[in-house]
Amino acid sequence: MSATKIDGKAISLEIEGELKVRVDALGQNGVQPHLVVVLVGDDAASHVYVRNKQRACERTGIESTLIDLPSTSTQKDILELISDLNGDESVHGILVQSPLPLGIDEFRIAEAIGPGKDVDGFHPANLGRLVQGDTEGMLPCTPAGVMRLIEGTGVDLTGSKAVVLGRSRIVGMPMALLLTQKGVDATVTIVHSRSEEPSLLCRDADLLVSAIGRPWTIKPGWVKPGAIVIDVGISRIEDGSTPSGSRLAGDVDPSVSEVAGWLTPVPGGVGPMTIAMLLKNTVRAAEGLLP
Ligand code: GUN
Repeated sequence: MSATKIDGKAISLEIEGELKVRVDALGQNGVQPHLVVVLVGDDAASHVYVRNKQRACERTGIESTLIDLPSTSTQKDILELISDLNGDESVHGILVQSPLPLGIDEFRIAEAIGPGKDVDGFHPANLGRLVQGDTEGMLPCTPAGVMRLIEGTGVDLTGSKAVVLGRSRIVGMPMALLLTQKGVDATVTIVHSRSEEPSLLCRDADLLVSAIGRPWTIKPGWVKPGAIVIDVGISRIEDGSTPSGSRLAGDVDPSVSEVAGWLTPVPGGVGPMTIAMLLKNTVRAAEGLLP
């Protein structure tokens, strides 16, 4: 039996359609949501991600501005820019793309962005809300997108065992918080680089969310038959399988499809959902609906 594919691309387009209606309604009141993306340096993958974010803004009627800073920019330069953007009423959302050049403290950057414009959901005030079970603030985009994908399966997670692989502040930690919140009620284990017997922990899980960024690490023997498997990883592997010699690979070995009940593809699974949630946060910011 082959796992049912969870089509993140299709669900993200549905969400874009719903957001477009909200953007049009804002337009009737003379407001156009406006996202500013700050890109520092020349990380090739970041340029691709940022372009995808901008294209999605265009499709939805959200204004997007890219501020491209050289890799020689200092932390002070970036903080001054953020301060200006915080004070600019025409800007509803600010996103500083990670990774930042060496020597720049990403925590300092995240806490400088006004919580109401923090469309990444990385500000301590927004993450702090989440820790306290309050999901009304800005939610981190990837974990929020994963929740929407799981909802789409129709599976009730109450009392289920979930394993989150990876403990980053961007994905793993907020993912675990969303899955344990009241109303979702999964029992969550966070597996990380120092965990013992990760394959055994994973094999017990009804839901597996992998965010480790190591290609094809999750093998069929790690997966409980029928489990929901969400692949957040995206790496490039050089295997000569395409004319360019490389291709994108998730954390999950494609043969897991023979064991899992549901599986997200890479690309076309979590990636488009992250962008859809970014658009949603930007629209919410423009609507002034945040706590
Ligand atoms: N780099 C990779 N993913 C993300 C994200 O969701 N937000 C930001 N700011 N940078 C990223």
